[in-house]
Amino acid sequence: MLRLNTKICIVTGAGRGIGAAIARAFAREGATVIVTDKDEASAANVAGEIGGEAMRLDVASEQDWEAMAEAWPQCDVVVNNAGITGFEEALSPHDPETASLEDWRAVHAVNLDGTFLGCRYAIRAMRPRGSGSIINISSRSGLVGIPAAAAYASSKAAVRNHTKSVALYCAERGLKIRCNSIHPAAVLTPMWEPMLGTGPDRQARMAAFVADTPLRRFGDPDEVAALAVMLASDEAAYMTGAELNIDGGLLAGSAAAPKTD
Ligand SMILES: NC(=O)c1ccc[n+]([C@@H]2O[C@H](COP(=O)([O-])OP(=O)(O)OC[C@H]3O[C@@H](n4cnc5c(N)ncnc54)[C@H](O)[C@@H]3O)[C@@H](O)[C@H]2O)c1
Repeated sequence: MLRLNTKICIVTGAGRGIGAAIARAFAREGATVIVTDKDEASAANVAGEIGGEAMRLDVASEQDWEAMAEAWPQCDVVVNNAGITGFEEALSPHDPETASLEDWRAVHAVNLDGTFLGCRYAIRAMRPRGSGSIINISSRSGLVGIPAAAAYASSKAAVRNHTKSVALYCAERGLKIRCNSIHPAAVLTPMWEPMLGTGPDRQARMAAFVADTPLRRFGDPDEVAALAVMLASDEAAYMTGAELNIDGGLLAGSAAAPKTD
């Protein structure tokens, strides 16, 4: 029995990385997948591969979400996955002392405004059936401070909190629309490329990034997708407002924890 049979599932930022892995996993479970991305060509590639529908959608654009509501007035699952670190084009300072207001706003426009608009669309599109699952991709950075990526951390913390507002709002109205957040850390996707670079030091940089991760490795996008399938399916009918960490054990302790050996 396929776990997402007959469900219409929309995934944002699904042209590559975690979003593409989620789109593929949803298709394997029998869903009709709407593969959306700001980059139309990559969305079309993934949609072609899995037999889904492609649509260009910039999550920060209210107009694009209106077009989505016209094209897909009803749906069962929305994954608000699209997100940026702000370091895609260039490594500029994003710390609390020197970050520019422009950079701060640009990160929040995609990560936070995009999630707000995605949740608003989802509630409206799920209302006719009175049920559905909204999955917001936050981050480990939404749970702890990140001095060098303060805008990213702030936006992801807001995504975590908005998830709970949406969950409670829907529950109060007797809707079976669930909303949960996933908090990945160090999942190997193209998002990491500007930080890993190329050349002989790449392996050493990779090892350094996961040195504090108890499982001592990067996560795989498919591992995040497996969690999204569970939250999207009816198996998770009693889960709403929850936050699920998928971080190789990183948040289980802290660097300041006393050593036992
Ligand atoms: N990879 C990680 O280690 C990690 C860790 C924690 C959280 N996350 C979160 O997971 C999500 C996916 O990350 P990823 O690693 O796959 O990133 P990625 O950079 O590999 O892919 C992001 C995708 O989003 C698209 N996108 C960017 N801006 C968009 C916009 N305005 N509208 C629509 N699409 C847009 C890009 O075109 C790209 O296809 C993000 O929200 C990210 O913050 C990732």
